[in-house]
Amino acid sequence: MPATLDGVLMDVAQVQVPVTDEGLLRGDGVFEVVRLYGGRPFALNDHLERMADSAANLRLPLDLEAIRADVATLLEAAGAVDAALRVLVTRGGRRIALIEALKERPETLALATVTYAPTRILDGVKSLSYGANMLATRLAQEQGADEALLVTPHGRVLEAPTTAFFYVLADELCTPPLADHVLDSITRRRLMAVTDARERVTVRDDLAAIGEAFLASTLREVHPVHAIDGVALPAAPGPVSVHAAGRIRERIEAELAAGPTA
Ligand SMILES: Cc1ncc(COP(=O)(O)O)c(C=O)c1O
Repeated sequence: MPATLDGVLMDVAQVQVPVTDEGLLRGDGVFEVVRLYGGRPFALNDHLERMADSAANLRLPLDLEAIRADVATLLEAAGAVDAALRVLVTRGGRRIALIEALKERPETLALATVTYAPTRILDGVKSLSYGANMLATRLAQEQGADEALLVTPHGRVLEAPTTAFFYVLADELCTPPLADHVLDSITRRRLMAVTDARERVTVRDDLAAIGEAFLASTLREVHPVHAIDGVALPAAPGPVSVHAAGRIRERIEAELAAGPTA
């Protein structure tokens, strides 16, 4: 797979960063993952703007024009692939962009709740420090689930380690509020624009009454959930999830057709 390091195109196996880079030593840096549909990036501008905001919040120098040029070089080399584009900037000042294969995933997911408190100082920073998120997934898998559902020590339901969380309660499509320190997901933004989804403070006790649920992200679009903490949901995918999946797919197609400035 192709990659760029500080703007130079090479095979991903050739990319090397100094072991003293604090991006490696301390997870100090920022990243984004963009989906490529037949080589066309979806919502690239939104991702790069969020990356610039992340870097500003982290007090990390970031050259957005250089990153745009790296991405253009890499996309040209990648061709018409269905893949992921990962872009990162480290505290050591390295700009890295990689093409990654999409993962095979089960059609529907079992979630297990995992206690998690977002690091408040990292609000608005999609940082390289994802060790806690990766651990949450492993803890959920140790319980026999596919993925974690993060719940604060005070019982607020947040999101999954790399996806937003949506659910249907009393026939309404809901998602936990940004004010509860979940990531301002680009898929979540689009879903809120194309469906009736609304923000709702969500507590652990709500989970027993949920009619359907799905995870949402750049890589998964809409990914239905069939059970939470071993309790099967009434439908997976339910009608609201199927509708949301169709609407987001239409929106993606429309934005891709409108071209890179959309
Ligand atoms: C913690 C977290 N929440 C949600 C998401 C989904 O965000 P997006 O829709 O921008 O991919 C991600 C994706 O990286 C994430 O890391």
